[in-house]
Amino acid sequence: MEDSNLPLVEVDGLTKLFPVAGNLFRKPTGFVHAVDGVSFQLAPGESLGLVGESGCGKTTVGKLLLKLLEPTAGSISFNFPGDPEDAALQGHVDAATLTRRQMRDFRRHVQLIFQDPYESMNPRRTIYDTIAEPLSVQRIGNVLDRVDRVAEILTLVGLTPATTFLFRYPHELSGGQRQRVAIARALIVGPSLVVADEPTSMLDVSSRTGIMSLMQELAQGMRVAYLYITHDLAVARYMCDRIAVMYMGKIVEMADTEELLSNPLHPYTKALLSAVPVPDPEHHRAPPEISGEVPVPVDPLPRCRFFDRCPAATAFCEGNPHPEMEEKSPRHYAACYET
Ligand SMILES: Nc1ncnc2c1ncn2[C@@H]1O[C@H](COP(=O)(O)OP(=O)(O)OP(=O)(O)O)[C@@H](O)[C@H]1O
Ligand code: SF4
Ligand SMILES: [Mg+2]
Repeated sequence: MEDSNLPLVEVDGLTKLFPVAGNLFRKPTGFVHAVDGVSFQLAPGESLGLVGESGCGKTTVGKLLLKLLEPTAGSISFNFPGDPEDAALQGHVDAATLTRRQMRDFRRHVQLIFQDPYESMNPRRTIYDTIAEPLSVQRIGNVLDRVDRVAEILTLVGLTPATTFLFRYPHELSGGQRQRVAIARALIVGPSLVVADEPTSMLDVSSRTGIMSLMQELAQGMRVAYLYITHDLAVARYMCDRIAVMYMGKIVEMADTEELLSNPLHPYTKALLSAVPVPDPEHHRAPPEISGEVPVPVDPLPRCRFFDRCPAATAFCEGNPHPEMEEKSPRHYAACYET
């Protein structure tokens, strides 16, 4: 039975190191700490935003959750809701130890929406084939059922009348329409979690809001949780219940969306907020100084990852390891010695 108090996803100490190639056949010269000791939980139906600048490790976290990459260390586990038709994956499941049978169910429960819908679609397959493919992989329904289900979900994602879309090809659709097809394809199998990696960043501004509100409506109706990856805090504010801010492979701050935006604690979050105005006329903040580029985390020094760019850094920060995440106020976590 489903216990609604259990988190859907539990991520603990998740780490992914990529070797930096040495000369041919030589040992690696170092490791990119793409994701380094990341922990968070995600409740059923919750939307968690993963926010940070390019290269901070967002996509790598997403790929680890989807089991497209294996972690170097740490664990990911799921508490999948009970489903009498589909017994293989009920209850608490460690993502590292799935059987073949469980893996197929896992692929149904955890879906992906890409940044570029065109890249994720076969240009020679019709919209019907594209959306129905996960149903046939999952052996759900017969051919007639599938036509009905695809037509139904096309209507749900606003591609109406559905019959005029079924047998068209991806290149005949606009970017926004293609992203609606990608959403339909991800949701048709009734997933528990969707990893959405910058799903609106390649769309023109006019279709972004439509896609975001569609994703929100569908998540509420279908009780699907999102890990919503974006570099844009304004997008995260619109889409997410909670936000985790990443910097160089670490989550440095995590809180409910409004709390994080109105009361940022970590110097990096403060800097992000001053660099990207998040529409809210109530708050005017003096922008803190932040300079330089995000360094690539190859064998980073054992101190706060933000030290080199931090306007609040002290000698204590320099001589101590990267700070642990601490609950500074209820549900508001930050990794900083000075907050
Ligand atoms: N397959 C790989 N091999 C080596 N290094 C990698 C690999 N994938 C990612 N990296 C490195 O890991 C770090 C994190 O990359 P990742 O793609 O997760 O960042 P991101 O936050 O998604 O960035 P963006 O906003 O640009 O999409 C980067 O330094 C990147 O160069
Ligand atoms: S621990 Fe020190 S260097 Fe790191 S963010 Fe906090 S003040 Fe800055
Ligand atoms: Mg990315």
